Amino acid sequence: MHNQPDILIFPDVPALQQAAAERVVLAAQERVAAAHMFVCGLSGGSTPRGLYQLLAQEPLRSQMPWAHTYVLWNDERYVPPDHLDSNYLLARETLLDHVPIPPEQIYPIPTYYDDPREAAAAYEQQMRRLLELSQARIDLMLMGMGPDGHTASLFPGHPELNTPDDVLVVAVENAPKPPPRRISLTAAAINTSAQVLFLVTGADKAETLQAVLHGPYEPHRLPAQLIRPSNGTTTWLVDAAAGTRVAAAT
Ligand code: 6PG
Repeated sequence: MHNQPDILIFPDVPALQQAAAERVVLAAQERVAAAHMFVCGLSGGSTPRGLYQLLAQEPLRSQMPWAHTYVLWNDERYVPPDHLDSNYLLARETLLDHVPIPPEQIYPIPTYYDDPREAAAAYEQQMRRLLELSQARIDLMLMGMGPDGHTASLFPGHPELNTPDDVLVVAVENAPKPPPRRISLTAAAINTSAQVLFLVTGADKAETLQAVLHGPYEPHRLPAQLIRPSNGTTTWLVDAAAGTRVAAAT
């Protein structure tokens, strides 16, 4: 039985990002107190930029247990790590270069293999080793959603939506959102999370968000519907522009 998602609507993007940042800090503090490590999945795209910047500055910077924090990514564009499209570069420039997280606790998705499938296989092995350390779970996973209902690099109608549950990482070709080649965690990998926070902003996502949250279950058309942690919670943090058609959780 899946927990029903919570839907929180914020007046604007800064308010949403502040709330998300505070949730990350709380989750980290609680998990480190209980298990001495906090595994956080980072999202790409543009929405999380402000959240990363908030975590990199006071007062939240010193509230985060960076020495016990591990970061991985829910997807990556298949470009060099210094390419403007790189999700790793986004996180490095806005967050990781500004906080005392041990470098060995940062798990970037490799993009230097000739064959992206080799990169996916290598990252899957890294993830499995990390999940062994973390009692087989990602503690908090940050997710975005595109106007077409994609999440991570799981796109409507793509074969990666049908991977077996024991596959954690896939190579994606012909992504409709450029660049076309990507590496993505699968829904099965993301659903190991104890907590998923979706950050969704902008009027261009309002109709899709309503369909994802309140429409029929059609994950091939709306891959974001695949994200339903089996032993975890999902919270949608939505700004007013994206939330015009969804009811806030009572
Ligand atoms: C990516 C992201 C992708 C993103 C959504 C939302 O690599 O592009 O992982 O899934 O989260 O497309 O992107 P925005 O935050 O830019 O709207």
